[in-house]
Parts: sequence; C-alpha cells; structure tokens
Amino acid sequence: MDFKGKCAVVTGGSGGIGRETSLAFAKAGAKLVIVDVNGEAAKAVAEEIKSMGGEAIAIAADVTKSSDVQNYVKQAVDTFGTIDLFFNNAGIEGNLTPLVDYDEDLFDQVMAVNVRGVFLGLKYVLPVMVSKGSGAVVNTASVAGLVGTPNMSTYCASKHAVLGIVRSVSGEVARSGVRVNAVCPGPVQTRMIEDVARKISPDDPEGVKARYEAAIPSGRYSTAEEIANVVLFLCSDASANVTGMHFTIDGGRTATGGAVTNVTKTTN
Ligand SMILES: NC(=O)c1ccc[n+]([C@@H]2O[C@H](COP(=O)([O-])OP(=O)(O)OC[C@H]3O[C@@H](n4cnc5c(N)ncnc54)[C@H](O)[C@@H]3O)[C@@H](O)[C@H]2O)c1
Repeated sequence: MDFKGKCAVVTGGSGGIGRETSLAFAKAGAKLVIVDVNGEAAKAVAEEIKSMGGEAIAIAADVTKSSDVQNYVKQAVDTFGTIDLFFNNAGIEGNLTPLVDYDEDLFDQVMAVNVRGVFLGLKYVLPVMVSKGSGAVVNTASVAGLVGTPNMSTYCASKHAVLGIVRSVSGEVARSGVRVNAVCPGPVQTRMIEDVARKISPDDPEGVKARYEAAIPSGRYSTAEEIANVVLFLCSDASANVTGMHFTIDGGRTATGGAVTNVTKTTN
C-alpha cells in the first residue's frame, strides 16, 4: 500500500482501532489528521507519528457537533491542502441491557456519536473529495450492523444505520470518483470490548472473553492491526471499483451463524 503524500483523516483516532489505522496510514506514507474527543490522546498519537518521521496534526473534536466537524475538515484542508482518505470511525458502545430498561438519554447519545457523527463526517468531507474527483472513505460499522445482539439493540441499530448510509451515499458520489465503504469488525482487542465484557460480567470479564472466543471459528478476537489492514485495502487502488460495500472481519463468526460445533479442530 502506497499512500505517499495523501492526507488521511481518522476520527476516534486515538482509540484502539483508530490509532492502529493511523499508524498504518503513516507507515504507508500518508499525512495524518488525528481527530478525537480526547484531544490529549489524539496529540499523543500525532507525536508518535512525528517521532516515526511522519507528518500529523491532532484535533480535539466531538463528532456529534457540526461546528467541530466543519472545523476538523477545515484544519485538514488548511494544513495538508485536501483530504484524500477518510476513516469515519469514532464510536461508543452504550450499555448492555434489555431494550425496555435502556436509558433514553443513552439511546440519544449512542445514536449521536455512531450515526450523527458518521453523517456529519460524510456531509462535510465528501464535498472536498467530490470537488477534486477522487477520494476513499471507510466507515466503521460492526457485525452488530449485520445481525442482532440481545441487550445491545441501540448499538445494533446505530451500526445497521451506518451500513444504510454507506449503501445510499456511495451511489451519490460514485461518478465523482469517490468511494464509500465500511468495515464490520467482530470483537477486536481494544478498550471497547474489554468494557463490554466487564458490563456483562464485572466479576469475570476473562470468562466472557473465553466464551466469545469459543464461538469464533478462528478461536480468537481480531487485533486492531487486522482491522487497519482491511481499511487500508479499501482506501487503496487495489479496491478501485469497490464501493457501497462492507467487509466483515470476525474470524468466521457471522458466516457460520455463531455455530460452535466442530470448530475446535481443523478437518483434513
Ligand atoms: N472493539 C470492538 O470489538 C469493535 C467491534 C466492532 C466495531 N467497533 C467499532 O470500532 C470503532 C472504534 O472502536 P475501538 O474498539 O477502537 O474503541 P475505542 O473506545 O478504543 O475507540 C473509540 C475512540 O472514539 C473516540 N470517541 C468517542 N466518542 C467520540 C466523539 N463524540 N467524538 C470524537 N471521538 C469520539 C474515543 O475517545 C476513542 O478514542 C467504533 O466505531 C466501534 O463501535 C469496535
């Protein structure tokens, strides 16, 4: 993958998946705009990239706020001239409870970050790409955008919405040379999945992980680097005619419907 001279904007850029993808873009030659509501953590990732000899700026922004989104787009264009690559990735998990017990304000908060944040990012980044006739966007959905998960209806609704947006908007910009795709990770070893496990079982989060992993044909969670690799592929010319699609990275879990029979041994 060669992204020399390209400007890549990554939201949630200091989190597990965002940081790893930012580093991967930087290693492939891109100049990075690290966007995160945690400005200090974003700065740390930008410094890490600069210490590797790369170029990066950090911007503290809440993706739910239109003015913050317009500001990160402006800062990216003012600093690096344009935006070539956009990883629209910031997200939160909310709580794990049955729908009837789910807090209404938390519902609004999850929808604001995971759906409005994705919408605003596309609303203000796409015109930059369309005006120059090229660009690639990857949005972070989830396997929760493909199937339901009891006690996670709000998160699942938000990630289904991300795929609805991707499938629709991709057709609006395809003739302008801009591609819009999504990644659908299963569990990835980051802060988020660790907190989910603690919410399910505060006393035994490791037990939750063991049960989850037993239901994955490959037998393990993905690493953030494995998600980054697919994001870079979807941003590269190797996927030049791929748009409006999602790519699932989950060790085979969704394909097999979570069946756990006969997955412990490889058959000949
Ligand atoms: N970890 C998993 O198992 C998993 C699986 C599927 C999908 N995802 C998705 O991957 C994405 C990244 O998650 P992660 O696992 O790296 O978690 P993470 O918590 O490590 O990273 C999320 C980042 O988003 C930032 N963020 C949260 N709210 C924000 C806001 N309003 N404005 C700007 N930034 C904000 C956080 O500060 C954090 O740096 C999310 O969209 C998540 O839903 C994660």
